This record gives sequence, C-alpha cells and structure tokens, in this order.
Amino acid sequence: MKKVFVTRPIPENGIKMLKDKGFEVVVNDAAKDRAATKEELLSGVKGADAVLSILTDKIDAEIMEVGLPTLKIIANYAVGYDNLDIKGAKERNILVTNTPGVLTEAVAEHTFALLLAVAKRIPEADKFARAGNYHAWGPELLLGTDVAEKNLGIVGLGRIGSEVARHAYNGFNMKILYTDPKPNPEFEKTFNATYVDTIDNLLPQCDFVSIHVPLMDSTRHLINDERLHKMKPTAYLINTSRGPIVDEAALAKALKEGTIKGAALDVFEFEPAINEDLKKLDNAVITPHIASGTMKTRAKMAELAAANIIEVLEGRTPANLVQ
Ligand code: GLV
Ligand code: GLV
Repeated sequence: MKKVFVTRPIPENGIKMLKDKGFEVVVNDAAKDRAATKEELLSGVKGADAVLSILTDKIDAEIMEVGLPTLKIIANYAVGYDNLDIKGAKERNILVTNTPGVLTEAVAEHTFALLLAVAKRIPEADKFARAGNYHAWGPELLLGTDVAEKNLGIVGLGRIGSEVARHAYNGFNMKILYTDPKPNPEFEKTFNATYVDTIDNLLPQCDFVSIHVPLMDSTRHLINDERLHKMKPTAYLINTSRGPIVDEAALAKALKEGTIKGAALDVFEFEPAINEDLKKLDNAVITPHIASGTMKTRAKMAELAAANIIEVLEGRTPANLVQ
C-alpha cells in the first residue's frame, strides 16, 4: 500500500481524495497549531511514497534521504516553496509540486484589505474606539490617506501581482506601475500600466508598493534600508509574499523614523516571531500569514496538493510541477 505522509492537518477533502485511492494516509495530527518538528518529519517520511508538506515545515536533504528509496513526490500545500530544498529533491529524483492559481484571488483580496487597512488606519481606529477614546467627531481625528488615483507599484507581476493590479485599477482607478524581469505589453494595455525597469526606479514613484515575488537568494532583503529610503515619506509598503524579502529590522526603524508612512504585513522575516519594535508601531498593520486563508481556498489547495500526489503515484505527470 502506498503511504502518504501529511506533515500537518489540512482540510479533510484532500485527505479523503488520497484515502479514496486506497493510499495509507498518515497525518501528523500533533502539529495542529505549530510547525512539525524535525523528529516528526524524519519519522513520518520513512517509507513514504509521497509527502504533503505545509510551508512551516522545512524539508531538507537529510529528511529527503530518509524517504528514499520510496519517496517520489513532495506536494507543497502553498504556492511558495522556499521551505523545500529544490536542488536536494532534484538530485534524488523526487518531484516537487505547489498549489498555484487557486489562491490568487484570496491573496489579492487580502493584499487589498491590508492596503486599505493601513491607509485608513483601521486597526488603530478600532483600538481607539474600543478603548473609550471617542468623545466627539473631529475634523482631524485619525486622518487617513486617499487610495484613489494614487500610484501603486507592483513588485513581481505573477498571478497575484496582476490580480492586485486589477483590483487597484478597476476598483480604485489607481495608476499601476510594475517591475518584473520582463515587460508584459498585454497587461500594460489592459490596466494602463507602466513598466519600470528596476525596483530602484520604481520605489521613488509610488504611493503604495506591494511585493509579489517568490523568496529566492536574489530576493532576500530586496527591501532593505537603502531601498526604504528611496520610497516617498508618504508611501506605504504591503507584503503578502514572504517575510525575508523585507529586512524587518530596517523596516521597523523606517516606520519609527518616518522614512515611510506605514506598512502592512502578512509575512515576517523570522516567522512566527514578529519584530518587537514593529509590534509596538501604530503605522504597522499585522496579520499572521493568513492571506490565502479562506475556507474555499484552503479546500482547493488541499484538493490540488492531493491531485498532484495522485498523478505521480499513478504514474502520470502532475499539473503543478515545480521541478
Ligand atoms: C502561502 O504563503 C503560499 O505560498 O501559498
Ligand atoms: C502566484 O501564483 C504568483 O504568480 O504571484
């Protein structure tokens, strides 16, 4: 019987798909509200034909080695796959898949929720009102920033970046600027968007900057102290991609010193830890990596990850091959 190891509990529909195929499905239930431990991963991967991994769980070469010779596929339950050693998988002929597409809308919506929350100071205002501080309507009480017709800079024009641009253009008539390794003339035509060749040229032009690149060596600390100083002091940074793309200590300092106006983050450099200075700042809006977290999307991610495993274990090519 083929064995599938699921590193942490996922929505039941994905588990059911795997069980319906007659696979033995071992779910690491102990890791419901935390990352799997290395010991759990090492013991779970032993004799497994497939691993369904969660982004909190780092699958390195040592763990892959323990999965040999049975392990054929690691199906990540995420679009990002920086938690997996891709080179190590390749060297061991282990296929890797992700879950693109199904979470695009949810993440783009959350990106926009964050953008609006920081511009309109929603968490700060909520806290203010609940604390009993609202004594009278005031002409200058908790003033926010307009979003309409402002310049939005998209860093990385993949599916999610494009969807954020669509909301911004159709919903708020924002001016879209974007940077990406290559220009996309069709996107430019549809959203009246402007290609900017480098992030350094993009940043000074934007009122809002939203990050949509994957985490790789080349994107680690893409937003650092120097680049934060290239942004306008009135600008906001939104990050729903991966935490280490932003130098979090530099960001906390920039927010404190007024180098930029605000930031809204769903991801953190040392996740699940969040920079202590950042947590104290009213001009930082913080959510705990929940951008794809709608019931529909998480169920679709489970379905896709399970489908990728089924394809491989039945000898076909999976739809979402990363390598
Ligand atoms: C979530 O962060 C994902 O990569 O799907
Ligand atoms: C994610 O799917 C992206 O391409 O941004």
